[in-house]
Amino acid sequence: MQHVTDERMTPAAVGSHHLVVVANRLPIQRVEGRWETSPGGLARAMLGVLRSRHGAWIGWSGDVEEVGDAEVPFDVSGATARRLELDDIEMISVPLTADDFQHYYESVSNGALWPLFHDAIRESTFDADSWAVYEAVNRRFAEAAAAAAAPSATVWVHDYHLLLVPAMLRAMRPDVIIGFFLHIPFPPQELFMRMPWRESILDGLLGADVIGFQRSVGADNFVGLAKRLRAAEPDEHGVRTNGESLGDGRHVRVGTFPISIDVDEVERIARAPETIARAREIRSRMGDPETIFLGVDRLDYTKGIDLRLQSFATLLDERAAGRVQDSSSRRPIVLVQVAVPGREGVDSYVEERRIVEQLVGDVNGGHASIGYPVVHYLRRSLALDELVALYMAADIMLVTPRRDGMNLVAKEFVASRIDDTGVLILSEFAGAADELTQAVLVNPHDPDAIVAAMHSAMAMSAPAAAHRMREMRRYVTGHTVDDWARSFLAALGEVSGSRNADDTDHHDANDAAPDAVDPAPAAAAGLVVADRG
Ligand code: F6P
Repeated sequence: MQHVTDERMTPAAVGSHHLVVVANRLPIQRVEGRWETSPGGLARAMLGVLRSRHGAWIGWSGDVEEVGDAEVPFDVSGATARRLELDDIEMISVPLTADDFQHYYESVSNGALWPLFHDAIRESTFDADSWAVYEAVNRRFAEAAAAAAAPSATVWVHDYHLLLVPAMLRAMRPDVIIGFFLHIPFPPQELFMRMPWRESILDGLLGADVIGFQRSVGADNFVGLAKRLRAAEPDEHGVRTNGESLGDGRHVRVGTFPISIDVDEVERIARAPETIARAREIRSRMGDPETIFLGVDRLDYTKGIDLRLQSFATLLDERAAGRVQDSSSRRPIVLVQVAVPGREGVDSYVEERRIVEQLVGDVNGGHASIGYPVVHYLRRSLALDELVALYMAADIMLVTPRRDGMNLVAKEFVASRIDDTGVLILSEFAGAADELTQAVLVNPHDPDAIVAAMHSAMAMSAPAAAHRMREMRRYVTGHTVDDWARSFLAALGEVSGSRNADDTDHHDANDAAPDAVDPAPAAAAGLVVADRG
């Protein structure tokens, strides 16, 4: 069902949604003139929960609007609207103008926060005018959430684009339960201290009731900074705020909630006869190589595609020089590198593409033969079924980011290897390394270590590889994106439960969300959740 309204939102008006997701992007795309929910693990996990709770998703439609059009991002059969109902979920657009996009998305989110939060691999640019726009856009997201949320609703805010939303929303709607999840790493104290807006960011986040991180090290970094800069008092479960701007003495739970994937969906695709046939076809079209290495990444400098290509070139050089024992085979070894473009308005991304493409040219120039490139480079995004076929066609998956919040590609590769074959080489600097401990773990900053990991993956016996893959598959199967969403919502449910118990006068029993999240402790539900430490 597609239902369109064009009503304007009144900030601070109380809405009707008991669960509201707030993220930079809406999970929708336009297909043949119709809006559809777009694929992706996060969307799939959240859409199910939202549907059952009359939920809303607040985000940007992906189109930059002219200033005059700012109220009408959706065009549906001649009607225009900023709200769109898809499958019983209300999609509420926060429009961005070209100016907003440049300052909020490109300059602050991806020019300042992204590099700094990824270990300052690239220099951040800090622009005060852009920060003012970041604040203004965050306020618009908070206003949209305030207008959509029912009394005592649960609002779940996502990621580094919206670091200020929790405190802004709390000021507008103190009755709602606010969660924040950071999908990217949270940096060490000495790096975070470079941020000109460091206090504002901490205050923004401390507006939440529950703050989730991918790894415990991120949670610890955050707690240390909240103590150091905002005099927050750490305890076993998080911090207690201290100071006027933070709503004195409020408890903020800080925990580790590693995100995952839709394992059922990946396995379903992997078992389909078409996918199995496609995987065989991919291998044979490449000349049935001895070994297929595979990399699948956004074209981003954090992903270490350049380091990987350099190490692959070293491996090929060694084989050409006959310095390795396994060079007796005449069949080639190849690397398939899928690189999904994005953020091309940010200089460092343009530069990264140049570096990667020059390396692809160098390696192929030195090692390819007519009709047989050694690096198959695809700069585009692929549908999940084609990706799964590639995962199944490959022998060795290279997930070697310099730094990564989680890396879901690693988990997708594991989930797709239903016959327990294949080897995963995984960076110690990806969040997934905390969980996929049976991967060949590698320091991606050490070129010799990547080459050594490639050798050891190629030399690994089938039983040893099967043992490792089975262990990783068992883990991934038991920790899906649904488990992740449930565990975070259960943590929010606990806050809701204790607030209701503490303050029964404040909440009319009829106000309590009829389908609020289950306050049963997340741990009791056997879900992935860990308080810090
Ligand atoms: O890794 C952080 C993240 O925001 C992901 O959640 C998302 O898939 C990706 O970056 C996409 O980035 P963008 O919205 O800039 O294309």
